[in-house]
Amino acid sequence: KRIAIFASGSGSNAQKIMEHFKYSDSAEVALVLSNNPEAYVLQRADNFEIPTHVFDKHDFYQTDDVVNLLKRLEIDIVVLAGFLWLVPDNLLKAFPNKIINIHPALLPKFGGKGMYGDKVHKAVLEAGEEEHGITIHFVNEHFDEGEVIYQAKFRVEPGDTLEIIKFNGQQLEHLHYPKVIENLLKKYN
Ligand code: GRF
Repeated sequence: KRIAIFASGSGSNAQKIMEHFKYSDSAEVALVLSNNPEAYVLQRADNFEIPTHVFDKHDFYQTDDVVNLLKRLEIDIVVLAGFLWLVPDNLLKAFPNKIINIHPALLPKFGGKGMYGDKVHKAVLEAGEEEHGITIHFVNEHFDEGEVIYQAKFRVEPGDTLEIIKFNGQQLEHLHYPKVIENLLKKYN
């Protein structure tokens, strides 16, 4: 099975996924895509000798270039890992129920446009939440709204800082995202 990862930034989740599948017999990361030519994830992909593709707004929203590339490379699953653009209709239609995302909160809380990065954790602390966590979900035409596949939680302790809860969430993301991808792929023919 062939995995494509979309990421806009650092790509620490992409790193864990590439590590996880590096010696797998059943699946491989076949392509890493980014809207951001400066994204560190592209360097990480190079280190694994995984091909990369950078696209701009016009390519992504006005053409079928990205969809055609994914089809040509016979991609089975599209994994968003810190990808900040909304997925266009042509891509959703080309990969029905085969596009997933990870979000650093317990959706449906703390999701939606603009809710990413530190803003999520800040909002969680301001709301006085007693638990926090991560969500892996199918992608649809709205930000952070598709069907939930998997959630993992942890307690927010009194005195926890943004850095602490962010770190706790990242540990859960890195642990679970590769496994959830592997389990999903097992269900594909
Ligand atoms: C993660 O927290 C993920 O949940 C969110 O964006 C962040 C990406 O981090 N969608 P990284 O680029 O994988 O380090």
